Amino acid sequence: MSLRMRPWLDRIEPYRPGRPAASSDGSMASNESPLGASEHVVRAVTEAAGQAHHYPDPLADTLRAELARLHGVCADQILVGNGSDELIFLLSWGYLAHGGHAVCADPAYRIDEISARVVDARLTQVPLKDWEHDLEAMAEVDADLAYVVNPHNPTGTVRPLPDIERFVASARAKLVVVDEAYIDFTDDPGKSSAMALARDGRAVVLRTFSKVHGLAGLRVGYLVGDAEIVAGLRKIRAPFSVGALAQAGAVAAIRDPRHRERVREHTLRLRGELVHLLQDAGLAAVPSQANFVLVRTPHEEELVDRLARHGISVRPGSSLGLPGTVRISIPTEHGLRLLRRALTPLDRNPPAAAAHSLEQIRSENVHP
Ligand SMILES: Cc1ncc(COP(=O)(O)O)c(C=O)c1O
Repeated sequence: MSLRMRPWLDRIEPYRPGRPAASSDGSMASNESPLGASEHVVRAVTEAAGQAHHYPDPLADTLRAELARLHGVCADQILVGNGSDELIFLLSWGYLAHGGHAVCADPAYRIDEISARVVDARLTQVPLKDWEHDLEAMAEVDADLAYVVNPHNPTGTVRPLPDIERFVASARAKLVVVDEAYIDFTDDPGKSSAMALARDGRAVVLRTFSKVHGLAGLRVGYLVGDAEIVAGLRKIRAPFSVGALAQAGAVAAIRDPRHRERVREHTLRLRGELVHLLQDAGLAAVPSQANFVLVRTPHEEELVDRLARHGISVRPGSSLGLPGTVRISIPTEHGLRLLRRALTPLDRNPPAAAAHSLEQIRSENVHP
């Protein structure tokens, strides 16, 4: 074929999604909600399906009004997207195309990196320091956009709000984007969130309905920031990118804070139990403030395969830019039992073939 994609697109390493698991309980590769969507959401989406022949509200007015109330901002400071991933692409089209420069962590959330490469922007990646964003080094980079993912994916680490405030005040980047996809799982979301910076236009904050709300399959995310930024990005977005069912589901999710609280409580409790289980199995974990835990192991593939044999799908760190690690999403109660069985030592749990690798994992993790 003589027609070729633009040459710089060859440099993009394709996004590799998590492998499907044998069951929903074994699904620990994509940081989805183990408790699913609230029953109010299911009802709202079912009702909205009756109007599926109409185009959705392009401005998502009802949803934006709910979000504006929730965050104490004006509705024109909010842009809703087909997942926050769409908003990250819009930011790169708006601020990075034709010679822009972005700075982010290394490893970054993959879409931050891919979206910058799509528009052939210059991308400076600053290695993590002790598994956290090195904000001090990132602040020195004279970029158009700076991406801070807080808590970070794939590490689950969080930089405290005063550090983010200092970064926003001192960074040489023209616009700081704080991606708070996992903020609900921090010990104190109110004290960790940079939403106040978005409210007065000093930064942009990204949020998603895919995590604590359990709506990953509906695809809704939103951006909060300066009204001028929102108006600019609105011009370049596909007008109907957020479907009517997704809008209805998101509105119902906001109106069900008890479900959110249940998901948060479950996640924090099982995160603690998972860390203990890993410790008992001799595996070191990076301290997490998200709905996943990053395990450090020199036997990444063996661990992934061993879990797969027990019907569990997790994410190998090498697909996330962190070889020597495995990312495990917080599961259901039954999922945790599956993990316990999979990680129980061989003398108490066949099959024998897997024992050797687990013993190796143990012996090489005694000094984390
Ligand atoms: C840091 C981060 N930002 C954004 C997203 C994407 O969220 P959405 O499903 O809203 O596109 C994810 C999804 O895993 C994520 O980890």
